[in-house]
Amino acid sequence: MVCLGNICRSPLAEGILQSKVNDDKVFVDSAGTAAYHVGELPDKRSIEVARKYGIDLTNQRARKFTSKDFTEFDSIYAMDKENYHNILSLATDTSQTEKVKMILNETNPKQNLSVPDPYYGGDEGFENVYQMLDEACEIIAKKL
Ligand code: 4NP
Repeated sequence: MVCLGNICRSPLAEGILQSKVNDDKVFVDSAGTAAYHVGELPDKRSIEVARKYGIDLTNQRARKFTSKDFTEFDSIYAMDKENYHNILSLATDTSQTEKVKMILNETNPKQNLSVPDPYYGGDEGFENVYQMLDEACEIIAKKL
């Protein structure tokens, strides 16, 4: 699960998907394309909205996406178009590019919609992001 800062959207996506799959069989992680927040906890508003739905994000710490992630993971979900292009710019072959998907194409196939960045907005933005990611992760979990 990849966004820009790895503190708002992708930590939620990681927590939500991990809550829907068997921990022993599926490893879910998240990262950011930028390094601004490396080592930090998720944003308080992400922690809060996840907690409301029984998901704990407090053992997550932000990290930057690296080209090694292409070999470690089977699927890479971008939260928005900018993340998608930044991830693809690090891919070296088609086996890597094929792993990269826009997460909202799970709920809205082929539309390439972006999860809105809630960082500069209010709490309602985080609730909205939670609901979008919950629907997308439900579909991903069923396919795994
Ligand atoms: P995220 O949100 O990409 O969903 O983690 C952001 C977090 C921090 C910043 C931008 C977006 N920032 O500019 O610091």
